[in-house]
Amino acid sequence: MGLNLGILISGRGSNMLNLVNASQRGLIKSKVKIVISNNKNSIGIDKAKRKNIKTKIINQKDYESKKDFENALTNTLKNQNVDLVCLAGFMCILSKKFLKEWHRKVINIHPSLLPSFRGKNAVKQALENRVKTAGCSVHFVDEGIDTGEIISQEEVPVSSNDDEETLGKKILKKEHVLYIKVIKELERNCF
Ligand code: GAR
Repeated sequence: MGLNLGILISGRGSNMLNLVNASQRGLIKSKVKIVISNNKNSIGIDKAKRKNIKTKIINQKDYESKKDFENALTNTLKNQNVDLVCLAGFMCILSKKFLKEWHRKVINIHPSLLPSFRGKNAVKQALENRVKTAGCSVHFVDEGIDTGEIISQEEVPVSSNDDEETLGKKILKKEHVLYIKVIKELERNCF
C-alpha cells in the first residue's frame, strides 16, 4: 500500500531528495505530499521545489508557543492527508503531545548504529570511540533524542584512514538505501 509521506527537514535535504526521486521513479509506491522545513534558509526546500513538490516553511520562532508551532505542523500535514511523517535531518525535538497524535507515524534517520552515538556529531562520536563498524538507523520517534524503537539499520565498515568527512559520506550513501528499504517495509506491512 502506498503511503502519503510528509518530510520534515532543516538543511541540506539529501535524504528528502532521495525519497522524492524514489517516489517519482516508482521505486516506492508512496507519494511525497509535502516537504516542510523549520529553516527558511534550508537548501533542501529549493531542491524539493525543483521537483515540483509542495513545500512550506514552519518556523517555531513565528509562533507564540511550541504548541502553536506543532499545531501548524499537524494541520499542514493533515491537509495533505499525510499518514507517515519522515524526519530527514529535522533538527527539532517534537513534544509528547505531537507524538501522541502521530503515534508510530513519525520515523527518523540517524547516522549511527543506535543506541550508540545519539544526538549531534554521531559520526565524530563513532570515530572518537574508535569503532570498527559504524552505520545508520531508522527508528520510530519518541520524546527522547534518537531513542525510539529501531526499525532497521545498515552497517558501514570504518577504515583506518577515515575522517569525519569520508566516513560521513559513506554513511550518508547507506542512509539513502536504508530509508527506501524501510519505506518499502512499511508499505508491505500496510502500516
Ligand atoms: C543525515 O545524516 C541524518 O542522518 C542526520 O542529519 C543528516 C541530514 O542530512 N540526522 C540526525 O543526525 C538526526 N539526529 P540530509 O539533510 O542531507 O538528509
